[in-house]
Amino acid sequence: MNAPLKGLSVNAPPHVKNEKLIAWVSDMAALCKPDSVVWCDGSNEEYDRLCQQMVDAGTLQRLNPAKRPNSYLATSDVNDVARVEDRTYICSEKKEDAGPTNNWMAPAEMRATLQPLFDGCMKGRTMYVVPFSMGPLGSPIAHIGIELSDSPYVVVNMKIMTRMGKAVYDVLGADGEFVPCMHTVGAPLEPGQKDVSWPCNTTKYIVHYPETREIWSYGSGYGGNALLGKKCFALRIASNMGRDEGWLAEHMLILGVTNPQGKKYHVAAAFPSACGKTNFAMLIPPAGFEGWKVTTIGDDIAWIKPAADGKLRAINPEAGYFGVAPGTNTQTNPNCMASLDRDVIFTNVALTDDGDVWWEGMSEPPAHAIDWQGNDWTPAIAKETGAKAAHPNARFTVGAINNPALDDAWDDPKGVAIDAFIFGGRRSTTVPLVTEARNWVEGVYMAATMGSETTAAAAGKQGVVRRDPFAMLPFAGYNMSDYFQHWLDLGTRLAASGARLPKIYTTNWFRKGADGKFVWPGYGENMRVLKWMIDRIEGQAEGTEHVFGVSPRYEDLNWKGLAFSAEQFDTVTHIDKAAWQAELKLHAELFQQLSHHLPKELPETKAAIEQRLAA
Ligand code: OXD
Ligand code: MN
Repeated sequence: MNAPLKGLSVNAPPHVKNEKLIAWVSDMAALCKPDSVVWCDGSNEEYDRLCQQMVDAGTLQRLNPAKRPNSYLATSDVNDVARVEDRTYICSEKKEDAGPTNNWMAPAEMRATLQPLFDGCMKGRTMYVVPFSMGPLGSPIAHIGIELSDSPYVVVNMKIMTRMGKAVYDVLGADGEFVPCMHTVGAPLEPGQKDVSWPCNTTKYIVHYPETREIWSYGSGYGGNALLGKKCFALRIASNMGRDEGWLAEHMLILGVTNPQGKKYHVAAAFPSACGKTNFAMLIPPAGFEGWKVTTIGDDIAWIKPAADGKLRAINPEAGYFGVAPGTNTQTNPNCMASLDRDVIFTNVALTDDGDVWWEGMSEPPAHAIDWQGNDWTPAIAKETGAKAAHPNARFTVGAINNPALDDAWDDPKGVAIDAFIFGGRRSTTVPLVTEARNWVEGVYMAATMGSETTAAAAGKQGVVRRDPFAMLPFAGYNMSDYFQHWLDLGTRLAASGARLPKIYTTNWFRKGADGKFVWPGYGENMRVLKWMIDRIEGQAEGTEHVFGVSPRYEDLNWKGLAFSAEQFDTVTHIDKAAWQAELKLHAELFQQLSHHLPKELPETKAAIEQRLAA
């Protein structure tokens, strides 16, 4: 429904009964001054219409339907290719509530900064009203958001990534709550001005007001900067909701793992951005694991609430995957490749001469392609100039329903009961393949002090080790030390209720040998580690206790079907005393940075590790 603006009337359709929503849309239309307001219904017709409109505008290219049915390629502006962490703000009333790991500006100052930027920002464009549910519609764990955006690319991506459309208004009703998510690419058009294929602005602001639960995003059309249900709502705002209401919003995949006897477990795992969450969530057990099955509930975000029986129940608030394409292939992630056969929006991958897509690590390189910046690309050019066919943070957007390994309970409003948490950084050295925490506090310590080498998911230098507590550094919407306390408090509360707490593990798939190559084969072979965890939950696996937890010995893992020697195992598990002494200094630096409200249990745990290390 395309409603021309009459004064400030935004012509809400009759099924929209929420006066607060209508008033907000009206206010935002008055501020942003779009040519028209479109209330999205989430239908396939709407999706097809918007895609066609973007094909006509040059934003999307339709891929060869014989190769990749119902799929499109978008290529972005070179200045809009990743999340912009240095332009992302948590604008709490008090600076200490955002904490030292977040950019902060006082809300009044930020509002004064944004007001002139948003004033008229949608001139010449359409403002889309996008209703979405994060989580199964009506689930007690789910929440509703409404995104206003002038980007049709955002609308179609939100249709894939969330439960988006008219049915959301039934759940919202006349006075239900929603998180207002305001988004503009920040590129108003003067009358007669021709649009570009990827409008955006060199000025970018990704702003969260945690107290009023609002999101304002300016200047970017890419990924987590613009699809506001994802990082902005489901992590930064939801982490605030979770703290206030006693639940968790985490940067975690959720998988189901069923053993040959048919017993099923659920694991939630936090890895930093572009560290293989999608691969782990879609893992296919290798040879030697006949009868085991892994199924996907989510690949990026988990909302986890304690149920009446003291169990932690988790949902995936998303409905699709916005995954990193480079490196994905039929060896590393066959289920993902099968998911991408059709109905996909690719962004910043290369276009092949037969109208299909290609990225580094997908398959043998094509003889010729058009790279993500629109240039000719050949293997020879790549060799000479280093040019990448696909941007390292190139993405696919695809619905969860395309995943052959989708868990039957992925859309269950009750969620699934979590048996274990995994925290895994990307570390070339120091951190062993897998460690089990002996208790909740030790697990929180391991998660809080996690370090990881940075990836292309965020703008900035790659490969630098930074502390990424709980893989939440860019996503915790409040003071990190208060977030640690929230985890500790939850553990205490659950234990007091008599519930069996999930076990906590850390993993590192990324240790390198002297030749600079990864030693652990990873991908499907990670099943060997996952099985050890499951067996530990059942009290059926041994391990060896060391300074900061319990790890398997070589003989504790199932090696059937894989040639991996005890020496290689030692390379990925060895605990080097000097390296750990240096590592603990970095933990001390982190604790220094986070000293405001740092729970005393963390330095106490560190002191205990130091003592054991010195012994
Ligand atoms: C993501 C990220 O896109 O973490 O999931 O950057
Ligand atoms: Mn992520």
